[in-house]
Amino acid sequence: MGLGFLSLSLSRLGLWAFVAILLISLFKLLHLLLRRQKLARALDSFPGPPTHWLFGHAHEIQQTGSLDKVVSWAHQFPHAHSLWLGQFIGFLNIYEPDYAKAVYSRGDPKAPDVYDFFLQWIGRGLLVLDGPKWFQHRKLLTPGFHYDVLKPYVAVFADSTHAMLDKWEKKAREDRSFDIFCDVGHMALDSLMKCTFGKGHSGLDHRDNEYHQAVSKLTLLMQQRIDSFYYHNDFIYWLTPHGRQFLKACQTAHNHTDEVIRKRKEALQNEKEQEKIQQRRHLDFLDILLGARDESGITLSDSDLRAEVDTFMFEGHDTTTSGISWFLYCMALYPEHQERCRDEVREILGDKDSFQWDDLGKMTYLTMCIKETFRLYPPVPQVYRQLNKPVTFVDGRSLPEGSLISLHIYALHRNSSVWPDPEVFDPLRFSPENVTGRHPYAFMPFSAGPRNCIGQQFAMNEMKVVTALCLLRFEFSLDPSRLPIKMPQLVLRSKNGIHLHLKPLGSRSEK
Ligand code: HEM
Ligand SMILES: *[C@@H]1O[C@H](CO)[C@@H](O)[C@H](O)[C@H]1NC(C)=O
Ligand SMILES: *[C@@H]1O[C@H](CO)[C@@H](O)[C@H](O)[C@H]1NC(C)=O
Ligand SMILES: *[C@@H]1O[C@H](CO)[C@@H](O)[C@H](O)[C@H]1NC(C)=O
Repeated sequence: MGLGFLSLSLSRLGLWAFVAILLISLFKLLHLLLRRQKLARALDSFPGPPTHWLFGHAHEIQQTGSLDKVVSWAHQFPHAHSLWLGQFIGFLNIYEPDYAKAVYSRGDPKAPDVYDFFLQWIGRGLLVLDGPKWFQHRKLLTPGFHYDVLKPYVAVFADSTHAMLDKWEKKAREDRSFDIFCDVGHMALDSLMKCTFGKGHSGLDHRDNEYHQAVSKLTLLMQQRIDSFYYHNDFIYWLTPHGRQFLKACQTAHNHTDEVIRKRKEALQNEKEQEKIQQRRHLDFLDILLGARDESGITLSDSDLRAEVDTFMFEGHDTTTSGISWFLYCMALYPEHQERCRDEVREILGDKDSFQWDDLGKMTYLTMCIKETFRLYPPVPQVYRQLNKPVTFVDGRSLPEGSLISLHIYALHRNSSVWPDPEVFDPLRFSPENVTGRHPYAFMPFSAGPRNCIGQQFAMNEMKVVTALCLLRFEFSLDPSRLPIKMPQLVLRSKNGIHLHLKPLGSRSEK
């Protein structure tokens, strides 16, 4: 009898659980439907391409060539169009300077529908934070990018680059094209570890390499998750194989971060190290983070600290990797510009054996070519916001608070009224005369406004040193059988890598 009672109550329990799940699901569905209605109403005055009844525009966004698909939509729908990922998430996709200004000159928060996917990985660091805490962290970390801090990095960038170029010297002897993306990634991570995280002279170790692989996996999975609405729910995602791979790669990345923090804390115990830090006029990034506890009155909790380290570790190397790789691709594609850049850097170097800080300002043609590369191949092709107050655009159309915005930097940089013949690579677009008078929001590789890139000076310096040294050591040319296929993976990557032929220039190589 006792057992019968138990099975009765179990089946009753099962029934209750079933009813509860049903109610929660219904409630969730209702919530989604209401939200959909609200977003759809807000987007009413912004027509967009036809939508699939279930997927919205998700299919078009997932396919290769999706970036150029949006460019074709931009021609069809001036200023902006609605963009649906499934049925419940609708963005206003914008790609026009005045539209970009209306939103990005303000400090609206990042869209949680996209940026919350970062939480498991990089936590609430500068990239994801908003409100007073974001402001506090931004103010705290800005001195870590002071120009006196950046100056000595020139030599570090050069060291890491030489290590890569020596590796390339061997590969080039095989007389075949090879994919440069991965090597550039290792070099950029090596630089970052030394500059920002105070790693000694030793190059990347086994753990750094594992971290590097993990980031490549994480960015791939994240982009796929953003574009696949059925992966948006955490509970469902963590149950899928992709979700589990994501968690595992996060684990690897966190292990790496913890190690970096632990090593620095250990060093801080050491009195000699402490003296060295006190003698330095400017603290580096990790000093600031760890010192923040007692000095400026702001205390960073352990999880804040880890989030910032995770954020900078990722943002600080994956972006420049993309920038440098696409730059070298452009040089291979346009030998005449390659030649001009090389002549310029040869002249600047003269008979010195390394570049100095002041040299960076003299690299004018190279800088124009870097900017033109950023225009056509923006390392960060798309960023998202959620409005915290209504906005009215120049043409009178408006959006209410809570609306989601996607800024398509890739399409913005191809607006033909600002950039005539947008597909043509023309560095002179960035000559001082041509820059004056251009809309300040027509070119936004580092975003703009209060939430712009904190590392842009660091990035530009790295880009210049690395590319100048590459051009001095090698001549770059295309492999016509393996042209890159653009693919957004948080940063702009190539689906099949970036394969180039390298010819060593023995006569004048910097050592
Ligand atoms: C070519 C290189 C780079 C490009 C194109 C780039 C681009 C960007 C863009 C577009 C944003 C805005 C992101 C958004 O709104 O979601 C951003 C933010 C950010 N970047 Fe960069 N970045 C580069 C290099 C770097 C480097 C080297 C660092 C650090 C060392 C860095 C650290 C950050 C951080 C922390 C943020 C968030 C800033 C905030 O919201 O206050 N970036 N970057
Ligand atoms: C390009 O910009 C101009 C001027 O800002 C604007 O009128 C035009 O609609 C834009 N074109 C596209 C395709 O967004
Ligand atoms: C991370 O570190 C822990 C403990 O040090 C270890 O057990 C775990 O296997 C590591 N995970 C990965 C993915 O490396
Ligand atoms: C400005 O840009 C145009 C078109 O790219 C170019 O022909 C012209 O030479 C540039 N002007 C200067 C001063 O560089």
